[in-house]
Amino acid sequence: MKRLAILGSTGSIGQSTLSIVESYPERYAVATLAAGRNVDAAFAQAQRWRPRLVSLATEELAGELATRLRAAGVTGVEVAWGTVGSVACATHVEVDFVVSAIVGVAGLEATHAAILAGKPIGLANKECMVAAGEILTRDARERNVPLLPIDSEHNAVHQAMRVGTPAEVKQIWLTASGGPFRQTPLEDFAHITPQQALKHPTWVMGQRITIDSATMLNKGLEIIEACRLFDLPPSQVRVTVHPQSTVHSLVEFVDGSILAQISVTDMRLPILYALAYPERPVSSLTFDLAALARLDFEQPDFVRFPCLRLAYEAAEKGGAHCIALNAADEIAVDAFLRREIPFLGIPRTIEKVLERTPESHPETIAGVLEADSQARERAREVISAADLRV
Ligand SMILES: NC(=O)c1ccc[n+]([C@@H]2O[C@H](COP(=O)([O-])OP(=O)(O)OC[C@H]3O[C@@H](n4cnc5c(N)ncnc54)[C@H](OP(=O)(O)O)[C@@H]3O)[C@@H](O)[C@H]2O)c1
Repeated sequence: MKRLAILGSTGSIGQSTLSIVESYPERYAVATLAAGRNVDAAFAQAQRWRPRLVSLATEELAGELATRLRAAGVTGVEVAWGTVGSVACATHVEVDFVVSAIVGVAGLEATHAAILAGKPIGLANKECMVAAGEILTRDARERNVPLLPIDSEHNAVHQAMRVGTPAEVKQIWLTASGGPFRQTPLEDFAHITPQQALKHPTWVMGQRITIDSATMLNKGLEIIEACRLFDLPPSQVRVTVHPQSTVHSLVEFVDGSILAQISVTDMRLPILYALAYPERPVSSLTFDLAALARLDFEQPDFVRFPCLRLAYEAAEKGGAHCIALNAADEIAVDAFLRREIPFLGIPRTIEKVLERTPESHPETIAGVLEADSQARERAREVISAADLRV
């Protein structure tokens, strides 16, 4: 029985993880849950799963949850809050495996603490790998802690890499759906609304990752995540646009063979893979090969999607530039969703913040968080000072 800490339990990945636990009660149990602000969902999850510990983002929300649990007669569930609370969830003595699925750098300290505590990680939170991957992978390797990717592309690469040695890998190909604007005329980009950008053609996900898919910054973050997870330079991490989202990624070996991973577009599959690794449990997530009409692969358009270029540039520099790429994007996406900047204001903000970022390589999580808040400050300055209209 693997007892899980689910960090980000109320989100899209968190809920899919709970549905896996529901399907495999003989394999998995819930030990702790960490969430942000959704008290209703956290209350329902605590009632259903009776974890040892639940953490919410603030003291006030945690107090509200504790009161509701008491009133409902739910006992034995401790309630915590903030970073201390999510760290306690990640490192709890009864936790055997941590699913890291808090969105953004809010999940960084808990993920790092889990690594230091020797807990195997299923990693969905790509932002923490982008911001602090150099530290997380170093500390995980030193302690022999498995970092199993849940992000579908990296999960696919992880699966395909099992057939060869790292030295036999020529390059990897991350597939991208191209998002909702793959074929939108360039002149229409200036008028893209949040409502349009939130409609992803193939995946249902949280808001930030959905907007990041529309700008293709998501693929940029994944390039950096892949460099770190698989110890590859940016030049060996390529992107191919594959609108069907059927091939989740490919590994090209030095002899010319290319291995692709194909499955349904359902995050429960990579979650199950990470939870069960190195086993492969029987699942109902079958793929209908007969319904597969075609597989298209196209070159990514770096003019239409400048975020991809910016991500490669940041990946080359590493350190503070990767931190700034992620932080500036988070602020810019938020401003776009609040209609303060247009869609094209997202790459513009990121580019300006990257230009103003001095090169550095923080070696501690505190240093990463410091660089992260400086980048956020720069992004806010750019948004309030600059004319980001097209
Ligand atoms: N969804 C996908 O298919 C997918 C695929 C690949 C990778 N990912 C990655 O997985 C991560 C989660 O994505 P998602 O789509 O599941 O996002 P989501 O639906 O927006 O969920 C985010 C989760 O993080 C929690 N959270 C936010 N701020 C927090 C804080 N300060 N402290 C503790 N918890 C906090 C949220 O809690 P509340 O809701 O309670 O506020 C929620 O549980 C992201 O890094 C994303 O890039 C997602």
